[in-house]
Amino acid sequence: KRTEADLIVRNAAEVVTCAGGTERPKRGREMAEIGLIRDGAVAAKDGVIVAVGKTSDVMEQVAIGWDTRVVNAGGRVVLPGLVDPHTHVVFAGSREYELEMRIEGRGYLEILAAGGGILDTVRATREAGLAELIAAAGKYLQEMLAQGTTTAEAKSGYGLTIEDEVKMLEAVRRLNMVQPVELVPTFLGAHAIPAEYRTNPDGYVDLVVEEMLPVVARRGLAEFCDVFCEEGVFSVEQTRRILLKAKELGLKLKVHADEMAPLGGAELAAELGATSADHLMAVSGKGIGDLARSDTVAVLLPATTFCLMGESYAPARRMIEQGVAVALATDFNPGSSPVNSLQVVMGLACRQLKMRPAEVITAVTINAAHAVGRAAAVGSLEVGKKADMVIFDAPNHLYLMYRFGTNLVETVIKNGRVVIG
Ligand code: NIG
Ligand code: FE
Repeated sequence: KRTEADLIVRNAAEVVTCAGGTERPKRGREMAEIGLIRDGAVAAKDGVIVAVGKTSDVMEQVAIGWDTRVVNAGGRVVLPGLVDPHTHVVFAGSREYELEMRIEGRGYLEILAAGGGILDTVRATREAGLAELIAAAGKYLQEMLAQGTTTAEAKSGYGLTIEDEVKMLEAVRRLNMVQPVELVPTFLGAHAIPAEYRTNPDGYVDLVVEEMLPVVARRGLAEFCDVFCEEGVFSVEQTRRILLKAKELGLKLKVHADEMAPLGGAELAAELGATSADHLMAVSGKGIGDLARSDTVAVLLPATTFCLMGESYAPARRMIEQGVAVALATDFNPGSSPVNSLQVVMGLACRQLKMRPAEVITAVTINAAHAVGRAAAVGSLEVGKKADMVIFDAPNHLYLMYRFGTNLVETVIKNGRVVIG
């Protein structure tokens, strides 16, 4: 008996399934295994994949009804909907003037210490109403969707008061109801020490631990808790205190780790069983070893290094060779990475992180899905998973990274529905 389908994408030059990594993120050589099917097809019913394979095989397996949507992907490449596992997409204002400051040689942490940077966006975000935040983020999410992102993490962290952090997470909750990009909410109350706690940073950590986290957990506003663990921001000890409380309250953990200074954020993430450790430009050898022995995914953000005009990128090759599960993200935010295209990140990852194209594809699909706790539902084209797919106007998967800088997306399908194209 044939399986019913309401959507069929067929005749693709390549269907890149990214299959085989649902249980555990891919590491080492597995990262280059992308499950390529030439002349491939994917069929779905009610938003769920029911068949994947050669077009001829899929067409034999499925029943086509009068209302089945058949999409011809002839000569093009089909990938799972891209997953962006680290973004700060909710914020007010913008910081284009920092570009000149950076050209003049002023450092990111120097601008922050002078009350600018993140704290500038905090001022704008505190002033903005909920509707304004939703409108601004909605526009960025539409851009991301049009570039192939169907699932994204979204952090708070520009409120830094209970009300304003809740307002940001409330914006994420509502955005999930009104637009197609599925958002995974992260509480990042520990993103910076707000101006009013400048002389009492531990007082702010108390506020995060004793008041903010319980409210966020009780109201179910976030799945993850993250901390910016960095010199002059939150120390390893403060980070541990916040994350232990978050864990106790049932939240999963992430860490902005070893971005500028090798403080030991990666080691801490592995020790606490964090879902991901992110940035890692300055990770130590021990940090890499600890990550390799853990289930923590390393989320690398090369667009941030590029935009901060950093000299050294995260040691992706060493990590992959030592068995760390690597994912990639945009880190989209108004300061260090105004980039929200994963395609741009993919092109940078090949050229600056020396990741192979197949490893890059794994890093923005199934490994990225693990980094947001969604691997059971998205990140690969396998029967039973969500029908989230992107059709790229590219003759093969290598071309995606080769033509870096151009949006090659032709069609985006989310939950079995064509949302772009
Ligand atoms: O991940 N590193 C800290 N936080 C963000 C930047 C946020 C900002 O500059 O507004 C990041 O790069
Ligand atoms: Fe970030």
